[in-house]
Formats: sequence, C-alpha cells, structure tokens
Amino acid sequence: MRIVLLGPPGAGKGTQAKLLVEKFGIVQISTGDILRKAIAQENVLGSQVNSYVLKGELVPDSLMVDLIRERLNEKDCRNGFVLDGFPRTLEQAKALDALFKELGFSISCVVEVQAPLEEIIKRLILRWSCPNCGSVYHLENNPPKEKGICDICGLPLVQREDDKEDLIRRRYHTYQELTEPLSEYYAKKGVLIQVDGMKGISDLGNILAFRLLEREKTFKR
Ligand code: AP5
Repeated sequence: MRIVLLGPPGAGKGTQAKLLVEKFGIVQISTGDILRKAIAQENVLGSQVNSYVLKGELVPDSLMVDLIRERLNEKDCRNGFVLDGFPRTLEQAKALDALFKELGFSISCVVEVQAPLEEIIKRLILRWSCPNCGSVYHLENNPPKEKGICDICGLPLVQREDDKEDLIRRRYHTYQELTEPLSEYYAKKGVLIQVDGMKGISDLGNILAFRLLEREKTFKR
C-alpha cells in the first residue's frame, strides 16, 4: 500500500500512520519527524529549516521534494509506505506524481483526516511525545502508563516547540491556505477518502483499515 495522509495539524495523522504501519507492515515517512531530527542534530538541513518550523510556515518545496526523493529510493519503501505530512502544497503534489512515475509507483489512496480548530488546540497543547522512538501521547485521550514517561523506551516525554497556541493557529492557517486545496486535486484523481478525525483513536484506525482494504479489493477486481 502507498498511502498519503492529509489533514490539519493535530488531526491525528501521525497517530493513524503508526496504526497503519502495525496493521499493514508498511513504513511511516513523517516529514515533520525527519525535520525535527535534523533540527535536533543541528546539521545543515536542520539549520535551514528551523526558522520555518518555528514560525508555523512551510519549508520550501524544493528542499522537501529532494528529501522525499531520497527517502522513497530507500529499500524499505518497496513494500509500501504511508506518507505523513507530504505533500503539503500543489507544487509538492505534482512533484510526487512525477516521482511516483519515475519509480513505477501508484498511489493506493489519499486519506484526509478532518478535525476542527478548537479540537486541534485541545489536542496539541496536551500532546507529549518520546524524543527517542517518536511515540505520541495525549495527557487525557491517550496517556502514558506512567506520567511523563514513554511506555516503550522508559524515557522522559517532551513537548514540541511548535505546540503553543499562537503557533498552532498559524500552522492551521498555513494548512487552510496551502494544503487544503490538495483534497480537490486528489478527489479529481478519484483517490481521496475523507474520514472524521473526531472519532476515537482505535475506532478511527479500524474504520480507516476497513476502507483501505475495501479500496484495494475494488482496485484489484
Ligand atoms: P508535522 O510534524 O507534520 O506537524 P503537523 O502537520 O502540524 O501535524 P502534527 O504532527 O502536529 O499532528 P498530527 O496530525 O500528526 O497529530 P497526532 O497524531 O500527533 O510538521 C511540522 C512542521 O514541519 C510544519 O509546520 C512545517 O513547518 C514542516 N513541514 C513538515 N512537512 C512539510 C512539508 N511537506 N512541506 C513543508 N514543510 C513541512 O495527534 C495529535 C494529538 O492528538 C496527540 O496527542 C494524540 O495522542 C491525540 N490524538 C490523535 N488522534 C486522536 C483522536 N482520534 N482522538 C483524540 N485524540 C487524538
């Protein structure tokens, strides 16, 4: 399966991507995680992108397309992947089409996870994540077993620097302006599925898996 996840910040893309990885044995490619890793390592990419991320703006398309090209050429992508956070602009979507053509891939499905701004703010200001394995928690909806500690690594959880209310609002507006038009782009191609991100985490995971499998069956017939 080659799945693209769209949706505003905090809609649950990363959470659902991890469930899809478990269910379908595919890899998660999170552009946000790749950028945060580069920022933490203070490497060349990190210093180029930090200022965009901390303003709630998008990193330039050319940089993101090069990054995705490199990642999709890695061996572990051959059995399928879920793109979490790419594409985010029409330019990136067109570049992804060209890249898929080059690699002989086709998109199985584009999933848009929908959630309103008030809910997004509640989710992101209470989100904590593991700096080591990337596991994501929510203090009320999906808490770790031990307060402040990752269930998997046993390390202290951290909050993202861009999860402050003013920045969340800016990220949401960036999404509305530059990424939302992609749902029409993919709907016209007949590959879009829209799901209600207000459902509980595991209910949404089950609905999503069901709809993806249904699509695969129809596609193969
Ligand atoms: P990125 O890291 O991708 O951030 P984002 O898109 O803003 O999305 P989030 O990771 O904040 O949210 P999510 O939808 O994954 O939600 P999650 O599952 O964690 O990007 C960060 C920045 O990098 C961008 O702002 C940009 O600057 C740059 N960037 C990245 N990609 C780029 C690109 N392609 N081009 C240019 N720039 C790029 O869930 C959130 C919380 O809610 C968690 O606490 C979770 O436990 C909880 N939760 C999840 N689902 C549910 C549910 N169903 N019910 C209740 N709670 C839930």
